[in-house]
Amino acid sequence: MISFDKVGFQYGVGPEILHDISVTIEAGSFHFLTGPSGAGKSTLLSMMHFDRRPTRGFLSIMGENVAMLARAKTPLLRRKIGIVFQDFRLLEHLSVFDNVALPLRLAGEKERILSRNVTEILEWVGLGKAMHVSPRALSGGEQQCVAIARAVVGRPGLLLADEPTGSVDDVIGQRVMRLFEELHRLGTAVIIASHNENLIRRFPHTRLELMDGHLVRIPVEFGMKL
Ligand SMILES: Nc1ncnc2c1ncn2[C@@H]1O[C@H](COP(=O)(O)OP(=O)(O)OP(=O)(O)O)[C@@H](O)[C@H]1O
Ligand SMILES: [Mg+2]
Repeated sequence: MISFDKVGFQYGVGPEILHDISVTIEAGSFHFLTGPSGAGKSTLLSMMHFDRRPTRGFLSIMGENVAMLARAKTPLLRRKIGIVFQDFRLLEHLSVFDNVALPLRLAGEKERILSRNVTEILEWVGLGKAMHVSPRALSGGEQQCVAIARAVVGRPGLLLADEPTGSVDDVIGQRVMRLFEELHRLGTAVIIASHNENLIRRFPHTRLELMDGHLVRIPVEFGMKL
């Protein structure tokens, strides 16, 4: 599904922050992306979402060579990806319902089906009563739940989540993780960037650890002991 081959990345003329990243993410797999603050987790996720291109090396996503990709094609490709941004990026002029409905509307889903799916996922994350307010009226944790609902509602083939439990309490954090695992069981490839060790340790998945700009794959058996 995603293949990095000796990818490097630098912002503008700044220093290279990611070096020689080589990793393959299989369809239907589940990975944690870990590493200290500033390690480059969000940057790496943004490359997987066609937001940034490698400054060297080869990156292929869903069969597309990112370096050769016409920018006009990216919106269509992004529709196959669910993403939870670290800073949520909800649209404040739209209601909670309409924020979550957006991916389905873009995909041309019928309003009747869309309405059922959006309502169901919002009730699941505990926001059934807040569907028609602006995200501005919600707490940080609630906004994060809206961002999560928007990312999963279309059952994407690839789910990228950047610190998706950073603003919610432990109980909701575990619920969210179960939701991601459910999606994974249905065939979605899931990549979760997080430095919440308590949470990561409870879920047995391969860890991709960024250290000094390099990516190390840590298999489950070893990752659980960290
Ligand atoms: N738009 C930008 N322009 C220049 N440098 C940037 C930009 N965004 C991030 N950086 C730098 O790139 C490095 C990696 O940042 P990134 O946000 O990817 O790290 P992160 O692992 O997601 O950190 P955190 O755990 O705090 O979210 C940092 O040194 C950061 O200062
Ligand atoms: Mg980040």
